[in-house]
Amino acid sequence: MTCSPDPAARAEELRANVEHHDIAYHQLDAPEISDADYDALVRELAAIEEAHPDLATPGSPTQRVGAAPSALFAPVQHRSRMMSLDNVTSLEELLAWGKRMERFISGDVDYVCELKIDGVAISLLYEDGRYVRAATRGDGRTGEDVTANVATVAAIPQRLDLEDGATPPSLLEVRGEVYMPTSAFEELNRRQADAGGRLFANPRNAGAGSLRQKDARITASRQLGYWAYQIGEMEGGPVFSRHSETLDYLRGAGFPVNPEIAVIATLDDVHAFCGRWEQHRHDLDYEIDGVVVKVDDLAQRAELGATSKAPRWAIAYKFPPEERATLLKQITVSIGPSGRATPFAVLEPVFVGGSTVGMATLHNEDQVAAKDVREGDTVIVRKAGDVIPEVVGPVLSLRPEGLPEWSFPATCPSCGGPLVRAPGASDTNCTNVECPAQRVRRVEHFASRGAMDIEGLGERTVRLFFDRGLVQDVGDIYAIDLDRVRGLEGFGEISVGNLAGAIEASKQRSLANLLVALAIPHVGSTGAQALARSLGHLDRIVGATVEELAAVEGVGPTIAKSVHDFFANPRNQAVLDKLRAAGVNLEGPGAPDLPQTLAGMSVVVTGTLERCSREAAEEAIKARGGKAPGSVSKKTTAVVAGEAPGQAKVTKAADLGVPIITEDDFEHLLETGELTTR
Ligand code: IVH
Repeated sequence: MTCSPDPAARAEELRANVEHHDIAYHQLDAPEISDADYDALVRELAAIEEAHPDLATPGSPTQRVGAAPSALFAPVQHRSRMMSLDNVTSLEELLAWGKRMERFISGDVDYVCELKIDGVAISLLYEDGRYVRAATRGDGRTGEDVTANVATVAAIPQRLDLEDGATPPSLLEVRGEVYMPTSAFEELNRRQADAGGRLFANPRNAGAGSLRQKDARITASRQLGYWAYQIGEMEGGPVFSRHSETLDYLRGAGFPVNPEIAVIATLDDVHAFCGRWEQHRHDLDYEIDGVVVKVDDLAQRAELGATSKAPRWAIAYKFPPEERATLLKQITVSIGPSGRATPFAVLEPVFVGGSTVGMATLHNEDQVAAKDVREGDTVIVRKAGDVIPEVVGPVLSLRPEGLPEWSFPATCPSCGGPLVRAPGASDTNCTNVECPAQRVRRVEHFASRGAMDIEGLGERTVRLFFDRGLVQDVGDIYAIDLDRVRGLEGFGEISVGNLAGAIEASKQRSLANLLVALAIPHVGSTGAQALARSLGHLDRIVGATVEELAAVEGVGPTIAKSVHDFFANPRNQAVLDKLRAAGVNLEGPGAPDLPQTLAGMSVVVTGTLERCSREAAEEAIKARGGKAPGSVSKKTTAVVAGEAPGQAKVTKAADLGVPIITEDDFEHLLETGELTTR
């Protein structure tokens, strides 16, 4: 855990970070960090919240299961909550869990050991034996309605197929995992590569991406499977006393139930099952990331119950990340869209964590120095069942004699300009905005998912368009000469039509997407959303002073300065002019035309207000340019106290001499920016 002098600021930073990665993982299916790094962020946040309960917020990622549903699909209220599982990461912890449980319950315990499928959790609903709905887990209470998409998964029965024509239950909810077989994933990525499309990071992301399609025909074209592992709810069916019986029933009704599931009587044998599958996980044609151990007896399960997040009768044993040694052939530097120079390792390809790894990021100069990896070293590469492979460090005993330390190149590999590291910064940058690598990467980034999402404008196509002089900067995308594109190899009438449609559709993306797409240094999706929400129009952001930008909640001085510098640059202004002329949307969600009466102020709301909810009051503050933090500090302008206010906040305000105001005073403050206490 990183020690931070200001836990409130660190908690806020962590929350923003976790939310960013939640969106990347759950909604864009394009994770940017490994599961292990993500877990470390959440753990650090949980530790801060535990030490400082006043910093815990109801919406904190530590209180959630999975992600909030996206806007792409209709929301579905789960009949009963789809819970998560508690994890253990070592066999010792697994045994300790088992022993605790055996002490707690009466009688012998049988365990059902199941493979932990690395796919997408899906709840299936059957009424009178007929498939009626499928939903993702979402945040556990509300999921996304993916009925049409899941209906295309051949393995999922449309009707229950019960023996001897038995009457089906009036209602049956089955839970399980949709997954993409590894072989299908490899084939899909081969096809994507041939078509110049985006590659999926791993089978889980490919499966999730295939399910999350507006057009179910795309889902149908992907090979997906399903393993059922749990009955959620049942009305009017047989009565079971064991989980293993429910699995037999599901199998009999036509659901795919994993054949490797075993009922095991002792913890020693559970241990052996886990160890065996850790060794043999790659013998399967689907990805698993652990073993789920469940108590078989349903009466014992009822005795054990659940915590607020997970049942006590089951545990997930997560396999440790896999590690392999390989040769580090070279360390090269790649230039990103905003000029950041990132060192990465070119490796002798090695199969680790379910895929072949030939490259791994080394993040920045300090990371290379801290790990002391050198070209020619044998290095340990680690990859959990997720995306980003990591170089752990060198195997010093295998280091050839006289291997020189690696030093960061002084010049950009693309334009030959200087690479500059500002004092105190961790990143090194190519500062030549005309650098060819940067220009290409900016256009690639602009078109990418999470930015303007222009399908068909991937890496290869962008390079081709650059080579042919069809684009010079992102502003040119909207004026591409399609007749010239038609003449290029690989571009038929259909693909040109699709590309034109995708470019046109991208004009309607949100202001936050546009801000991300412009690749302004330091501006990620959280900062972009904060700016879009608070200022509401690109022109307001362009015209804002550094101070005004820094006053936006969620925008610090670094981002503020970077945004200001970016828009002050005449080259970027010229790009904006092209975007404006093309009719690209420049307005944010609910673009507030409200006077910014609270700019620079920080107002804390506590207790129940009469005329609006606390959330609405906080929105009103933000819409007028103010900040609405969850805690009182000496920077607080005023505390609005409703019915039953938080005593800690009131006491702290009184101690610090911060005015405590009524709802009437608050309304006056919103309207005029004047602080009165009546
Ligand atoms: S049982 C209340 N069984 O792992 C218990 N989950 O980390 C419900 N998963 O949300 C889950 N394989 O998406 C269960 N054999 C299995 C599983 C499994 C994969 C997933 C599932 C769950 C997550 C928890």
